[in-house]
Amino acid sequence: MQNGKNKRIYIQDVAVRDGFQIEPRFIPTEQKIALIDALSQTGLAKIEVTSFTSPKAIPALADAEDVMNGIQRVPGVIYTVLVPNMRGAERALGCRADELNLVMSVSETHNLTNLRMTREQSFAQLAEVIDYARPSGVALNVSLSCSFGCPMEGAVPKEEVFGWVDRFISLGVHGITLCDTTGMAYPTQVYDICSEFRQRWSAAELTLHFHNTRGMGLANALGAIEAGVDRFDASLGGLGGCPYAPGATGNICTEDLTHLLGLMGYDTNVNLDALLACARQLPAMVGHEVPGQTMKAGTVTDLHSKPEWFEEVAERARQKQAQQNSLATSAAQAAAL
Ligand code: COA
Ligand code: ZN
Repeated sequence: MQNGKNKRIYIQDVAVRDGFQIEPRFIPTEQKIALIDALSQTGLAKIEVTSFTSPKAIPALADAEDVMNGIQRVPGVIYTVLVPNMRGAERALGCRADELNLVMSVSETHNLTNLRMTREQSFAQLAEVIDYARPSGVALNVSLSCSFGCPMEGAVPKEEVFGWVDRFISLGVHGITLCDTTGMAYPTQVYDICSEFRQRWSAAELTLHFHNTRGMGLANALGAIEAGVDRFDASLGGLGGCPYAPGATGNICTEDLTHLLGLMGYDTNVNLDALLACARQLPAMVGHEVPGQTMKAGTVTDLHSKPEWFEEVAERARQKQAQQNSLATSAAQAAAL
């Protein structure tokens, strides 16, 4: 494994969308706005602000318009929003989103559960959305849920995933996100799929979206980097999860990913201290502990103080060592005579 040699990796935070969508407690709109404004100052490439879904399906994000209209946009940060259908696209364009992140699942069962449409119905909706949105010049990304397996169907063949990628690329979509919705991916699988994707669609912008459901999330990110991927969704504090995917848990954690990549010599452009300050606000906002680890342990350069009794014990050990050294010297001298 090589040092990152300052290679740029783009980190896109999805906590206020993927994270908050599954929280049972409604996060007040002004708190969402304040968090997005703070995240905007950390150097992240993109922030997924909300989703324009049915408020009955995702009540936690029913305030999508108010959030979009309330944030202070920082130049250079892309503000993206999740869109499942035409109604969502109309609402998102009404709020001047920088990007529409169109969503469907490559698993028929998950698509029916999550979006109440067959995959063909979703594709037809999204194709209409693409036609409708194109004149506005808004950026278009497609997120394909369950690209590394479905919690209800099991394995999803790679050719199935690539078939959907091909259809969207044929419609002129530039960005594709392969989503591991319930943490079924593993690093060698990720490496193979990402390598082949990059060979087949070298001009497309590929993002990887991992959930850490089985503890493989950061390993998967490294597998993707090995295959040349330079864009990741991640969630502050490791929040996240699709409410319509059984067993879903949080995304890979933004500050843990940033910390890891910084140590390995990659350039994420993210101010880790500022990000950690944002993450440490989360438990109070959501009302429970969050999975992020660096926010609890500190970075590897945050040293802990020694225990109070350290000097006494160390001095005793040093004295004993000196006695042992002098005994050993005397014994060596006696043996030499
Ligand atoms: N925004 C707001 N309201 C919407 C909407 C949207 N994008 N799409 C549909 N609706 C409303 C309709 O106006 C209708 O309202 P009414 O009951 O007051 O008449 C209602 O929702 C049902 O509309 P319908 O088209 O029949 O949708 P549905 O019930 O089949 O649900 C989705 C389809 C896609 C809208 C819904 O399943 C959804 O929003 N899913 C999102 C799931 C999600 O975000 N998962 C996590 C991320 S992967
Ligand atoms: Zn997700």
